[in-house]
Amino acid sequence: MVSSTPSSKGACTTSDSPNWRQRSNAGGLGIITGLTQRTPEALANEIRRCREMTDKPIGVNLTFLPVVTQPDYPGYIRAIIDGGVKIVETAGNNPQKWVPALHEAGIKIIHKCTLVRHSLKAQAIGCDAISVDGFECGGHPGEDDVPNFILLPRAAEELKIPFVASGGHDRRPFIGGGIGAGRGRYEHGHALYGHARSADP
Ligand SMILES: Cc1cc2nc3c(=O)[nH]c(=O)nc-3n(C[C@H](O)[C@H](O)[C@H](O)COP(=O)(O)O)c2cc1C
Repeated sequence: MVSSTPSSKGACTTSDSPNWRQRSNAGGLGIITGLTQRTPEALANEIRRCREMTDKPIGVNLTFLPVVTQPDYPGYIRAIIDGGVKIVETAGNNPQKWVPALHEAGIKIIHKCTLVRHSLKAQAIGCDAISVDGFECGGHPGEDDVPNFILLPRAAEELKIPFVASGGHDRRPFIGGGIGAGRGRYEHGHALYGHARSADP
């Protein structure tokens, strides 16, 4: 991880407090995946734990899943607001419904997108930044298979709001390329699993 570069981490099921504390304390932005915590109360506890570990900014990822039984999203959002978190990364679906409540609480929204047209939509509905996630990424790469060498330059041409380059930064040349394409900002996920100092199992 390049500690002086704004970076973030979001990854389902293992992104708990010791792990992202390393990111936040190193100058990046550690992101907890909200749904890793089974209930809003558990997320509130996790945010509290994080607060005891660092006074640096932290983020929470909220992934809106196309599932029959919806998680208690209002409860998770309440836990985020009450926990004083100021950055939320949304993903998985259009976050428009949640934008007013988050903005009213002074929270900045980074929406994760795998396409330029989705990024433009997120910009239009008031998201503050985009995490542009190429086909190389860990996790869900979207459905249109657009790799970062195509996606990131096009995002740079189209977007007026800031974006971070995301996906595939697990080898040094790509880290360099990704940082350049993201204008110095990148997000990484799975590479940290193998990192010697990572607290992930
Ligand atoms: C195991 C795993 C689970 C992930 N789960 C989520 C998730 O729940 N929500 C989300 O927005 N992104 C998720 N991601 C994607 C990451 O947040 C990040 O965008 C991606 O890992 C960046 O690509 P990289 O892993 O190549 O660095 C996940 C990634 C991994 C590897």
